[in-house]
Amino acid sequence: MSDRTMHWDNVYATKGEAEVSWFQDSPTISRDMIRAANPDHDAAIIDIGGGASRLVDALLQDGYRDLTVLDLSANALGVAKTRIGQASSAVDWIVADATTWRPARTYDVWHDRAAFHFLTDPRDRAAYVERLRSAIAPGGQIIIATFAPDGPEKCSGLPVQRHDSASLAAELGPEFELVETRRETHHTPWNSTQAFQFSRFRRQK
Ligand SMILES: C[S@@+](CC[C@H](N)C(=O)[O-])C[C@H]1O[C@@H](n2cnc3c(N)ncnc32)[C@H](O)[C@@H]1O
Repeated sequence: MSDRTMHWDNVYATKGEAEVSWFQDSPTISRDMIRAANPDHDAAIIDIGGGASRLVDALLQDGYRDLTVLDLSANALGVAKTRIGQASSAVDWIVADATTWRPARTYDVWHDRAAFHFLTDPRDRAAYVERLRSAIAPGGQIIIATFAPDGPEKCSGLPVQRHDSASLAAELGPEFELVETRRETHHTPWNSTQAFQFSRFRRQK
């Protein structure tokens, strides 16, 4: 097991769903951006580093039928599956590292909140983008949320690379065009604040 996997499995084994800084009761911006990216309920959507997030619950509620959640922590996915119960069998759960995973199919929408920002080594970011490019068809959309340039330097005790839409555009390359970018002041469960940015890109056809 890699150090990365051990770190995250330990986090989800020792902390409750709402005891982590990134917890959101309602993932509003993600949900809005996914709807804007593709309102078709047959759209294939993948949440990268989805962890125990309630986004998948919200998307099921919204009527989406082709949902995948990928995370390197089996414990994290276990928390989400238990919470969702029977409806979780309609979701594809993948335990994998986003930098080494081999996508077996394509998706219409790729969402990542607070996983990409842990990739502080440019080689890991390049490996992630390589997976993204093989998993997203032309016309598909990408939503990446990270700490903003004025956000914290660490998340879950690990160093992060902060981003804005320009640095993400540079990582993704010219065939991805920026559609929108939004800032969010996230309130942690203990009511401190963290500056996030959410950027949405379209892969050109
Ligand atoms: C800060 S949490 C955010 C979880 C979720 N996206 C949310 O918004 O609640 C980061 C998540 O990314 C996962 N993660 C970190 N690095 C990863 C990687 N290289 N590949 C896949 N998942 C990763 C962790 O296990 C964790 O669940």
